[in-house]
Amino acid sequence: MGQRRKYQVIEAALADTRRLLGYKLRAEPEIHLNLKGFDCGWILDSVAWRPGLRVLDVGAGYSWLPIYLAREKHCEVWSVDDFGTWDSDPFWERSRDPAEYIRAHPEVKYVLGRLGEDRRPDLPSGYFDCIYSASALEHVPVARFADVWTHMDGLLREGGHLLHAIDIAFPTSRGAAHVLLAALFDVLYPLLPKSLQTRFLFETPLSCVRAALRALGAPMRGVARRLSVVDMVIDPEVAVEPLEFTLNRLLKDGDARTRHFRVGSVLIHVLKT
Ligand SMILES: C[S@@+](CC[C@H](N)C(=O)[O-])C[C@H]1O[C@@H](n2cnc3c(N)ncnc32)[C@H](O)[C@@H]1O
Repeated sequence: MGQRRKYQVIEAALADTRRLLGYKLRAEPEIHLNLKGFDCGWILDSVAWRPGLRVLDVGAGYSWLPIYLAREKHCEVWSVDDFGTWDSDPFWERSRDPAEYIRAHPEVKYVLGRLGEDRRPDLPSGYFDCIYSASALEHVPVARFADVWTHMDGLLREGGHLLHAIDIAFPTSRGAAHVLLAALFDVLYPLLPKSLQTRFLFETPLSCVRAALRALGAPMRGVARRLSVVDMVIDPEVAVEPLEFTLNRLLKDGDARTRHFRVGSVLIHVLKT
């Protein structure tokens, strides 16, 4: 038998416009009206930050959030990311020099590497009070997704929080038939072979949450309520990435073949008890 793990689900939901407006109006620090703004506002709002809190940002890249938590909340902040050294994403080709950036921000402990990969970054076990990510885990290959969650479980202390905001494409991006397929996938999910569950794990908010909770051994009861595909596509309060952001990304990367699709953010917040 493996180590006994217990998790309580604090939240499994989709980013929504009402909360985004609330984060914006509270406005310290400035929150932008896009999904990144939501994710940062949600993470800041969901934890009682205090000096010395041990925090790990997964896939921070050049984000301001770990720097803010170190400078303003006086947390002990670590960041784990390989800054594109194992990646061919065009994002990195137009970016700054990671070594120079890391030198310029000594208040954050930057560790080069990727969670859940074979070459494990050197991070202390059972150490962190909070492990979070914003728009990072959707970049993990589906076959590695569960490994990333079990890796985080090993790094988190009892009583610690995991908070992850994961970008997710709306099934409407591929037409009405795909919406039905996605809804059917969620219903049939328990009957499907694990290979299919894994292959399509980013297909719906619920399958993404199910994969994460299963890796942690966390309870699934009640999580389906705020994650249905139908609600996702018809509820006007569900936050969508502004056109400017998704289209700009296509323009900057010069990839004319890529189709624009609408993107939301699925939120997973669990407590290790
Ligand atoms: C779109 S960037 C998000 C950057 C940042 N979180 C922000 O809000 O600006 C995604 C980042 O996730 C990182 N990443 C992907 N898989 C990772 C993993 N398994 N462990 C750590 N970082 C990972 C990538 O290297 C990249 O920097």
